[in-house]
Amino acid sequence: MARNKITIVGAGNVGATTAHIAATRQLGNIVLIDIVEGLAEGKALDIAEAAPVQLYDCDVVGTLDWEKTADSDIVIITSGLPRKPGMSRDDLLAKNAGIVVNVSEKAAKHSPDSVVIVVCNPLDAMVYAAAKTTGFARNRIIGMAGALDSARFSAFIAAELGVSVEEIKCVLMGGHGDDMVPLPRFTSVSGIPLTELLDEDKIAELIERTRKGGIEVVNLLGYSAYYAPAAGAARMAEAILKDKKTVMSCCAYCDSEYGVGGYFVGVPVILGKNGVEKVITLDLNKSERAQLEKSVNHVKQLAAKVDQLL
Ligand code: LAC
Repeated sequence: MARNKITIVGAGNVGATTAHIAATRQLGNIVLIDIVEGLAEGKALDIAEAAPVQLYDCDVVGTLDWEKTADSDIVIITSGLPRKPGMSRDDLLAKNAGIVVNVSEKAAKHSPDSVVIVVCNPLDAMVYAAAKTTGFARNRIIGMAGALDSARFSAFIAAELGVSVEEIKCVLMGGHGDDMVPLPRFTSVSGIPLTELLDEDKIAELIERTRKGGIEVVNLLGYSAYYAPAAGAARMAEAILKDKKTVMSCCAYCDSEYGVGGYFVGVPVILGKNGVEKVITLDLNKSERAQLEKSVNHVKQLAAKVDQLL
């Protein structure tokens, strides 16, 4: 069987780590592309040289040349500036919109049938920019945020309860910002609702830590997280390439769903070979709806800024 082809745009921390995870999970042949001479080539070579130790069979190529990305099944866009201490994700909008438009045009030209996963920030606005630029069907443009934010929430829950991370499932909605909406009512530990295991105050504390999860890492490292973001992007790629029909939270196009009205926001979806195969609509209560509305309004404001730039 022919191997899948995955292009990863940007060979920085997130891009290179995504490439390494995708290789170890043997998701397909990988092309890592960057504009910095030597960077993608060097990291790809290093990842290829780890193959005999980690036992993966796939080609890992680094390049400056978009021709080499041709006909990829998936394009993962990680290029863009990361956050530094004191910066919000929104501060990156103008610079990163330019980069996302530039690489999205190239992705659409060289891999017109691909599914595009956007990882750079401010996430929901960058997904919107990629959708506008590529003109791809909405199900083939998806943002990676829910996978990361859910992973953080799950990690904090597992540590608090002293249980395995394996059985924690959660739903997280809204934008990838401080107003994201983790939903404890839809979070369970091996089928046991979280609300049975932790009291309201403790859950509120873990939600707050999840909302600030990105900046907690930035403040420690001096730059953005990359292991968990890369793991999230690779997990989405795996769900799509293996047509797993995985249910997870992603930044996906919603029109009538949740009354969003034509924007990309975090919602639970089914991910399979067509990208987003379905947005799952939950019956939210009043407080959950209000939180989602606030977060979606923020996403719309960022999208309006993208509209002004494009
Ligand atoms: C974070 C950045 C990557 O949440 O958005 O860590």
